[in-house]
Amino acid sequence: MDAEPTVKGNPSLLAIGWPRKAFDYIRSYGLGGFAEQIHHRIATWHGERKFGVSTSGFIEPEELGIQNPDAQAYAALGYEHLRRALPEIPFPDSQVVFLDYGAGKGRALVCAAARPFRKVIGVEISAELVAIARQNLAQMKHRRAARAEVHYSDAAAFPVPDDVNVFFLFNSFIGWTLVEVVERMRQSHVLHPRDLFVIAFNQAEFDQCVRGETWLRKVEENAYRALYRSV
Ligand SMILES: C[S@@+](CC[C@H](N)C(=O)[O-])C[C@H]1O[C@@H](n2cnc3c(N)ncnc32)[C@H](O)[C@@H]1O
Repeated sequence: MDAEPTVKGNPSLLAIGWPRKAFDYIRSYGLGGFAEQIHHRIATWHGERKFGVSTSGFIEPEELGIQNPDAQAYAALGYEHLRRALPEIPFPDSQVVFLDYGAGKGRALVCAAARPFRKVIGVEISAELVAIARQNLAQMKHRRAARAEVHYSDAAAFPVPDDVNVFFLFNSFIGWTLVEVVERMRQSHVLHPRDLFVIAFNQAEFDQCVRGETWLRKVEENAYRALYRSV
């Protein structure tokens, strides 16, 4: 997650504060966890700088005035994960229409738009985050996608565009909202049969939800994400 550390006050405290924090972190998560956290911090710094965007932070749904009880908090997926996940899409870049359900400040969209995809689409329930995502896409450097758009909508009410062939989810929503979204994906596949690919990060609920679906099968998974493809 991307909650940034803040060290306020006397700069001399920095020298004392950081080794202490590092020690506490190692004690809780081990050296491997610490190394992963350092990698994550560097990847975040590098990604934000490379694209000239601002996508970090952690925001609870209540702070955004979101009413849907299924909504999860805002936190962007690490750049290091996005860098690995996007090349796993099994279609030529020029044919990819990428939809991020719960686009937040647009980090996944920015990384997708840095590839020569046909289109990237975000759906986000918070008006505040929609505005930030649009701003990030407008100002980003290294953009190669032909088109990019962010829709202000509850994902459960968003009609799946006929040309979307890659769905991306990272901890966006659970419960009825997720059930409805999966049903919309299924209907879209029935009405407009095409090869569909799903990247789902941290989505045990998504896995549960699609377990009985005959049109979609899991093709791979690791500790962070699962990949699905239509049958
Ligand atoms: C964990 S963040 C993911 C951010 C983004 N996908 C990324 O990786 O950078 C989850 C996002 O889903 C949004 N969200 C929650 N419920 C939603 C819903 N029903 N429809 C659309 N967006 C939703 C939240 O506001 C939040 O921005």
